Parts: sequence; C-alpha cells; structure tokens
Amino acid sequence: MKTFIYPGSFDPLTRGHMDIIWRASSLCDRLIVAVLKNNSKEAFFSPEERVQMAQLCLLPFSNVLVCSFDGLLVDFMQEQKAAAVVRGIRSESDFRYELELSATNRLLYDKYESFLLPARQDYAIISSSIVREVASYGGDISAMVPEQIENIIKERFSPNN
Ligand code: COA
Repeated sequence: MKTFIYPGSFDPLTRGHMDIIWRASSLCDRLIVAVLKNNSKEAFFSPEERVQMAQLCLLPFSNVLVCSFDGLLVDFMQEQKAAAVVRGIRSESDFRYELELSATNRLLYDKYESFLLPARQDYAIISSSIVREVASYGGDISAMVPEQIENIIKERFSPNN
C-alpha cells in the first residue's frame, strides 16, 4: 500500500490544492492531506475548521483522508509509513522553496522523498492569503475555492462574525 502525504496549512483549501490532490491521489493507494496545526504563519481558520473544510471538499475521493499534524513533517511521514510527500509548484519561487524544504527534510530523514507537481496555469496565482484578502472585502471567491466551502468562508468574513 503506497501512501503519499500532501502537507500544508490549507488556510483555507483552494481550487489549486484540489487540483494537486486530484492528480496526486491517482498516483498512490492512499493520500493523506495533512493540515499543519501550528505554523510560523498565524492561521486565520482553526485547525479544526481547516480539517472540516477539507473533509467536506474531499468526500468524493475514496483514497484521500484528511488529518492534522504537529511537529516535524518527517516524523509524521514515518508514523504514517508514507513513501513520499507531494507538493504543488506554482512558480519559480515555489520551486526554490521546495528544493530547500526537501534538502532540509532529507537531512532529517534519509529516506525522505517528494513529488513536485506543476500547478495548472489558471490556478497558479491562487493562494490561501489571496482568498482571505478577497473574502475580507466581500469579493467573489467562487473561482478560487471549491463550491462546498465558499459560503463557510464568506460567513467567517461577514461583519456579523
Ligand atoms: N494551489 C494553491 N495554493 C498553493 C498551492 C497550490 N497548488 N501550493 C501552495 N499554495 C499556497 C498555500 O495556499 C499557501 O498560501 P498562503 O501563504 O497565502 O497561505 C502557500 O502556498 C504555502 O503554504 P503551504 O503549502 O501551506 O506551505 P507552508 O510553507 O505553509 O508549509 C509545510 C509547508 C507544511 C510542508 C512545512 O511548513 C512543514 O513541513 N512544516 C512542519 C515542520 C517541519 O517539518 N519543518 C521542517 C521542514 S523545513
């Protein structure tokens, strides 16, 4: 059974993430979408909210499961007996960052392996912070996030919250 891990803050999950998940899930037996609980970046949505939103979107994917993790990615990877980590690449700067990330992780765990999937061109400009910024001004986020969570995000940014 080949397990891959797709880690990230998913604050919130976007259509760009969905595309990577859809493609990566066909390359392995089990894909774990791993929501990082405590990042150096302060998250807007709680870990529970981020997991729940991802679960809502990923219900139709029979070999994808969502969970949260804390601590080092390499430790989580070994706990889950994962063969590799998947990351999406949107730009040259993502690529440079991913090279550093994989080199660091390989220093920590010599069996560390990763797959870098190029983002679809039309999703390459989407990021979770752009979604949050547009939503905070009441803008239209429908092209950026899965429809299952569009209203949840909008409500969190509504002035009554
Ligand atoms: N589509 C849309 N957005 C994408 C994307 C894609 N395909 N790929 C990346 N992004 C965006 C994310 O939305 C996020 O946007 P934001 O900054 O606006 O919120 C940004 O790119 C990068 O975030 P993310 O993928 O969540 O990565 P990260 O850099 O926050 O975290 C981890 C990467 C989780 C892999 C890393 O922090 C980690 O492993 N942490 C655990 C601790 C550890 O092991 N540290 C040692 C290794 S250095």
